[in-house]
Amino acid sequence: MFRGRNLLDYSLPMTTRQDHAAASTPSAASPAAASQPSADQLATKAQAWSALFSEPMSELVKRYTSSVFFDKRLWQADIAGSLAHAEMLAAQGIISSQDLHDINRGMGQIAQEIESGQFEWKLDLEDVHLNIEARLTQLVGDAGKRLHTGRSRNDQVATDVRLWLRDEIDHITALLRALQLALVEVAEHNVDVILPGFTHLQVAQPVSFAHHLLAYVEMFARDEARMHDVRKRVNLLPLGSAALAGTTYPLDRERVARHLRMDGVCQNSLDAVSDRDFAIEFTAAASLCMVHVSRLSEELIIWMSQNFGFIRIADRFTTGSSIMPQKKNPDVPELARGKTGRVVGHLMGLITLMKGQPLAYNKDNQEDKEPLFDTVDTLKDTLRIFAEMVGGQINPHTGCKEGGITVNAAAMRAAAQKGYATATDLADYLVKKGLPFRDAHETVAHAVKAAQSHACDLSELPLAVLQGFHPAIEKDVYEVLSLRGSLGARNTLGGTAPVQVRAQLARQRARLA
Ligand code: ARG
Repeated sequence: MFRGRNLLDYSLPMTTRQDHAAASTPSAASPAAASQPSADQLATKAQAWSALFSEPMSELVKRYTSSVFFDKRLWQADIAGSLAHAEMLAAQGIISSQDLHDINRGMGQIAQEIESGQFEWKLDLEDVHLNIEARLTQLVGDAGKRLHTGRSRNDQVATDVRLWLRDEIDHITALLRALQLALVEVAEHNVDVILPGFTHLQVAQPVSFAHHLLAYVEMFARDEARMHDVRKRVNLLPLGSAALAGTTYPLDRERVARHLRMDGVCQNSLDAVSDRDFAIEFTAAASLCMVHVSRLSEELIIWMSQNFGFIRIADRFTTGSSIMPQKKNPDVPELARGKTGRVVGHLMGLITLMKGQPLAYNKDNQEDKEPLFDTVDTLKDTLRIFAEMVGGQINPHTGCKEGGITVNAAAMRAAAQKGYATATDLADYLVKKGLPFRDAHETVAHAVKAAQSHACDLSELPLAVLQGFHPAIEKDVYEVLSLRGSLGARNTLGGTAPVQVRAQLARQRARLA
């Protein structure tokens, strides 16, 4: 299920991997690096940890415990965190300014190597942190070895994940806004388009199509607000908590937090290294957002089925059938609905991961990454594709938006005319004539029954017939029974009357500006 995680992918024969490591000794190493251990030696060290271990790790255990092939995507956060830590160590006089200079230089080169695809990630070095640190030491010598002063991988990884997630939340927020804007744009063109609103998927009352779309804008606006809220708890600094208890060096944690544009410092070292609430909260917010996308998908699928025919989506979001030549299947909304299950699954995985973990850091936490990464990837892809599918894309030649959803207003109107969508309006009409609502409700039920037996709409019953149900009914009832009359009458705040819908649009436009 997860991308890039297959134990077989890692099972290079040992010799190949050694060759690989040996071949990676840098030619452009600094003079200091000449006396440094080779990549082979570093790998061996990492695998044996220290003199304490009397045998090397088995190949299977190495593959089982390593995370580098998925956590390498944290490299930018890892380097940023290390540079901020080193800058603070130097400012506090814990390392020299020469060390800081060397670390900056080495990290600059490492970033280049990773970006250009030259960096050799080594399974033997377990994770992104040890891979980068080993290469740094190879490049700059002792300064590289001093970087880990007052730090542990426990606070380092928690910092990396938070930094990475913070930036991803910012991307997701931008995508959420693009989707909301796409919905608002389509809504603006469809204020006066009427479709049946449903409850229990039975025709209920006429609504404006814009009003319907704006319901989704409300949902995605809440998702945006939730992301904003989660971000506050993501953007706090664990670094400086070291392994679990803090450290003996005079660190300035606030300085590191400022450097990394974080909103503050985690206040308890035990909690800081073991907390993954932020990942769970994020995945919960992402799950809810996917649920909203999934509900929209379900409606798009229904609307574009032949029996409804309310909308079309651009061909590039549909696929054909290998056997039925007439088919255009709504694969994208269907997949989004399906992928919602996948993201909700990640939420279950993450929350279960934390259940029963004693303080402080446990290796269980390494399992937070794949669900989190996949949640971010799935959500981003889904939001991006939906913004385009709903709102279309700018054609670079014409400068116009093309390919959004196409609305069939006639089909919507025809559907709203079936199913007695204005029955409540007739009841409300009678209430205004002095009937208690319950009596009006009963009277209209009889009228609907009569219309059904004549296979016509309420508005098609002659006045004399309507008056047979209640003498207070007059000619003005036909305006009340019209779709447009029904819509315009729902003029309470948040209602579907076009004037209310225009007010909603103005509010959303201003918010999204
Ligand atoms: N790769 C590890 C993780 O993702 C880094 C932290 C390892 N810490 C440790 N004490 N083994 O959680």
